[in-house]
Formats: sequence, C-alpha cells, structure tokens
Amino acid sequence: MAAPQRIAPGQLEVGLVPELPRLPIAPEWKDQQRLWGHAFHPMCSYLAMFPAALTHAFIARYSRPGDVVLDPFSGRGTTPLQACAEGRVGVGNDLNPMAHLLTAAKVDPPNRAQLAARVSLLRVRWSAEAPRWSALAAEAIARPGPGGFDVPAAGGHSAPAPLPHEVALAFHPRTLAQVLFVREALDRADRADRFIAAALTGILHGRSQTYLSDLMPNSFSMAPRYVRDYVARTGFRASERDLFACLDAKLKRLLRHDLPAVRGIALLGDARDAGSRARRALRERSLPDRARLVVTSPPYLRTVKYGYYNWLRLWFLGVDPDAVDALLDDAHQLDAYLVFMRQVLADLRPALTDDAVVVLVIGDVELDRGRAIRGGIGLAETVWERSAAPEGYRLAGVALDDIAAHRKMTKIWGDEAGRTTKTDRLLVMAPTDQGRRRALAAATLPIDWEWPPGGRLRLV
Ligand SMILES: C[S@@+](CC[C@H](N)C(=O)[O-])C[C@H]1O[C@@H](n2cnc3c(N)ncnc32)[C@H](O)[C@@H]1O
Repeated sequence: MAAPQRIAPGQLEVGLVPELPRLPIAPEWKDQQRLWGHAFHPMCSYLAMFPAALTHAFIARYSRPGDVVLDPFSGRGTTPLQACAEGRVGVGNDLNPMAHLLTAAKVDPPNRAQLAARVSLLRVRWSAEAPRWSALAAEAIARPGPGGFDVPAAGGHSAPAPLPHEVALAFHPRTLAQVLFVREALDRADRADRFIAAALTGILHGRSQTYLSDLMPNSFSMAPRYVRDYVARTGFRASERDLFACLDAKLKRLLRHDLPAVRGIALLGDARDAGSRARRALRERSLPDRARLVVTSPPYLRTVKYGYYNWLRLWFLGVDPDAVDALLDDAHQLDAYLVFMRQVLADLRPALTDDAVVVLVIGDVELDRGRAIRGGIGLAETVWERSAAPEGYRLAGVALDDIAAHRKMTKIWGDEAGRTTKTDRLLVMAPTDQGRRRALAAATLPIDWEWPPGGRLRLV
C-alpha cells in the first residue's frame, strides 16, 4: 500500500490552510488527447467541465463493471457518461436544466434506428411546413423584442412569446425558421427528441460552418448588450446554414463509437438530496442502490453564471437564464458554501457502499472581478476540514492538477486569468476506513488508456 506523503503547501498562504497528505496518483489524464473518451462527451461545451480522461483515472481504479458511479453535480455528464461507457451504472444529478438535458441525452440515449426515424420525420414535416415557418421568422425578425411578434414556445408547452432582439440577430432568416420549427417540435420527454435537442444545443453557435449561428464562439454566449453593439458596429449578418445538414454532421460525429454499454440515470435536482434521490431511482430500476465511487466537481465560489453565459442555448430550450442563475449555488460566500457542501456530503453518505471512494475536484479561486475571495485559496483543504471531516469521512489524500484548470477557464476571461481557478485539487476520501485503504492501495495501480477499448471505431 502506498503511504501518504506530506507536501508543502506551495503557493498557499501558510496558516490559512492546513497541510494535507498527498495522494500519489499521477495526473496521466493530462497526457491524453483533448477529446479522449466516448464520442458523446463533446456534444455541447459546458463551463468548468472536467476532461473525460480525469474521470477514467478514478473509474478504472476505484470501480468495477456493474458498480454504481455517482456525480451529484454532473454538468455536461462527464462522469456518468464515462462510467456507462465503461460498463458501470452512471448516475448524474444537476440542478441546471441544461446540464440535466445533456446528462440525460448521454446516459439514456435512443438507439440509432429511433434517432434516424425521428430525424427523417422532422425533415418531412419541415419540407411541408417551411413556407409557414419562413413567414413566421420574417415577421419575428421585423418585430423582435418586448411587445413584438409572438413565436411558438419551445416544446409548444407554454404561451408564445416575442423573439428576443439578440436571437433575431444571431441567425440567418432561413436558419431561424428551421430553428423555430425544431424548437417547437422537439418534446424533451422523448428520448430521441431529447438527444436531438442536446445535439442542436451543442451546435447552436460557434465560429465554423458546423454551427447554426456564427455570431459567437461555441464555449459561451457573449453578453446580449455586447452582441447588439457588436452587430451595430460591424454590420454583422449571420451566414445561412441548413439546420438538417448541420444536425446530420453532428449526429455522425456523436455516433462514431458504440453506444455506452450500460444505460445510466440522469436526475434533475439539488445536490443536497442527490444521494437520497439517486437511491430511490436505482431501487425503482432494481439496481444496487449505493454508489461505490463518486467523482464530482462542486460549483466554485462565485465564478460561473451558467444562465448568463448560456442565454442563447437556454432560449432554444425555453428556459429563463435569470431563473437558472437564481437557482444554482454559485454565488455563496465561503461560510454558506461550506455549510452547503456539508449538507451535500451528509446526504451522500448513506448512498455510498462501505468501501466507497469519493473524489471532489475543487478549484482554487483567488479573485472575483479583481477582488480577493476570502478562503478561495486552499478551498479543498477548507472543505475537508469544515464540511467533510465533521460528517465522518476519512481522508485518503489530495492530488494536485495545476495545468488543466488553467486551460479550462482562461478561455472565457482571457487575460483576466487571475479571476479564476489556478490549481485544481482532488480531494480523495471515503465514508469508512475500508474505503480509505482502498483509495490508497489502488492509487498507483496502472490502468489502460486505450480508447475506445481495443481501438474499435464504428464505421458509420
Ligand atoms: C463545476 S460544474 C460541474 C461540471 C462537470 N464536472 C462537467 O464535467 O461538466 C458544477 C455544477 O454544479 C451545478 N450546481 C450548482 N448548484 C447546484 C445545486 N445546488 N445542486 C446541484 N447542482 C448544482 C451547476 O449547474 C454545474 O453544472
């Protein structure tokens, strides 16, 4: 068994955070290709997502096929998808409806035939209804914004509403007609429709011809006011894109691997009762109701506004961005954050096997818009001391990941890199001593990095 070594806290302010034992787990995930892992992972970019290779480093070492692997903050679904692709039962939970959609599309996808049939049907309907939708799009572009021309709601569920100004600017009129058509036609309670909606969300905006709007980058939505100024300043006109051609190309990329070996579970709700809800959902499916592994990255302190930075995608899905930002736990001060994390970990414990391993990926956040965040540095150590240890968890150690974090977030804020994560810390712990010993024993176990396993690529 590998003995934990003590490490100096490096750049951390001595006295602010305790020294924790280091877990000797090599960050091999950094050596893998950017898109390592199942082809569903890059379905749609998601802020603060971690790489699939990182989850594999723990799934391969700390779970066996058939085990339940849980992520209470699943985001785009990285952990549950990679778990399902490796024969585990992946369970993902998130409070953000967009995260839930992405996780559900990935862990509970339709089969190829269902998908092909649904796309064909949509094409047939579009060819019959194109004139009506084109006229509707033209009206909406002529009279956008509050008090303007009403367009049908996403899924046709709620009342029609005017098209926001910035949405009218984002698409070519013909593309907008197609977007309005599929937005209304897709029923996200249906597996195939949900998968198509998630795939379209991923290609809604970006800078190449594979995207439906070339107004903004793919990683996040630019501020609505910036969009209006930018269009006025540059005379930008959106390029025409055929939604069905873009969708076909996207589905081809997504379906280049076999579907995940196991069907997983996606839950929509608060992480503070994710453990209890996961157990109920697993029991309903006659599956083992306790997770042997948790790999998760909780929201950081005041760095990401998932609603604001995804307003165009959320418009497409019929979700109010402000409501998303009001709902999510990203705006906490340190003390409230630590209480929140303690509640999450308390509810999680009964949902873990006796030998379970829990991996929390936590970034250090030094500055928020130029102002120091109290406790931002050494957050993982503080979470251990104030949220996990009081709930009876046993610490196996901390692993450091200093490059991935940088690469991940600086894309948004450019030179304002100091505003966000510098070093990710991977806090590895267990509900019992048995789990802690397992975490230590398997840390240095060599694992296979070939993906897809056996080099199998599907010919489409
Ligand atoms: C750092 S991200 C996780 C990213 C994920 N690991 C991935 O690879 O995409 C944190 C997630 O926590 C979610 N979140 C914030 N508050 C929450 C809450 N109270 N309950 C559940 N999820 C929450 C956010 O929606 C976000 O998806």
